[in-house]
Amino acid sequence: MLTPYVLNRLPVKNRLVLSPMTRKSAEQDGRATEKMARYYSSFAEGGYGLLITEGVYKDEAYSQGYANQPGLASEPQVQAWKPVTAAVHAKGGKIVAQLMHAGALSQWNEYTDETAAPSAVKPVGLKMALFGSAGEYKTPRALTTADIRLIVEGFANAASNAKRAGFDGVELHAANGYLLDQFLTGYTNLREDEYGGTIDNRIRLIQETIRAVRGAGREVGSVRESAERLTEPSKKRRKASAGGIGSRTRRLIFFLRISLSQSSSRSACR
Ligand SMILES: Cc1cc2nc3c(=O)[nH]c(=O)nc-3n(C[C@H](O)[C@H](O)[C@H](O)COP(=O)(O)O)c2cc1C
Repeated sequence: MLTPYVLNRLPVKNRLVLSPMTRKSAEQDGRATEKMARYYSSFAEGGYGLLITEGVYKDEAYSQGYANQPGLASEPQVQAWKPVTAAVHAKGGKIVAQLMHAGALSQWNEYTDETAAPSAVKPVGLKMALFGSAGEYKTPRALTTADIRLIVEGFANAASNAKRAGFDGVELHAANGYLLDQFLTGYTNLREDEYGGTIDNRIRLIQETIRAVRGAGREVGSVRESAERLTEPSKKRRKASAGGIGSRTRRLIFFLRISLSQSSSRSACR
């Protein structure tokens, strides 16, 4: 636990890893703040080897999930992260940006009033008071194939931005009911094209995103997947899905982190 190791080519001083936690402490326009630099560097100072950031939105379109969520979509956002990554490195830590697209579960978006998802399926449950939101979710617009191409490009662009901002890698958030998870899940993905139906089709967007991120010169550290849904904890994901993503991304990523529930999670390293 406390000995140094090399995660692919990234030397890390121990196996203590900070879980990603949305904090809503960025500027309204998605720029990281000094408070965030203090928050992340305090974990590095306290001895954590690797920090995974809160979910960071990846484009100025549909990906934002919360008010005051940080982004990696624009130049001012890239510049604002630099003091955060530098502060972590100064304390001997490594930091990975968790890139996310909220899809139908967006609770706030500075750039659009619509939400977008694999299919026009309204999420059950209510927006979360924990994140300063309230009321029902909107019924999302079903994404076109052209939209999906833009989503993949947006992830790759955000990954390049993460590199310029000083991050040591990226994690793709494919868990907790957000967009990539919406594609994986049968009842939120009713598509009849190559992105819906079989597991191979439902995983296609994640595979394409990983390849695009790697093509952008960015190593993908991990993909986070969950065995249970954020808004519908009673709907357990079938084993086939969690196992499926592992076998279908094995040669593309360093490790797959699987949350088993909201209160417990497990990282499966290869
Ligand atoms: C307030 C809050 C915000 C969270 N934000 C994120 C997030 O942005 N990305 C993510 O993957 N998980 C997020 N999580 C889930 C945590 O990373 C973690 O998996 C969860 O708290 C369970 O802890 P455990 O994994 O150590 O069992 C959040 C959890 C909480 C309580």
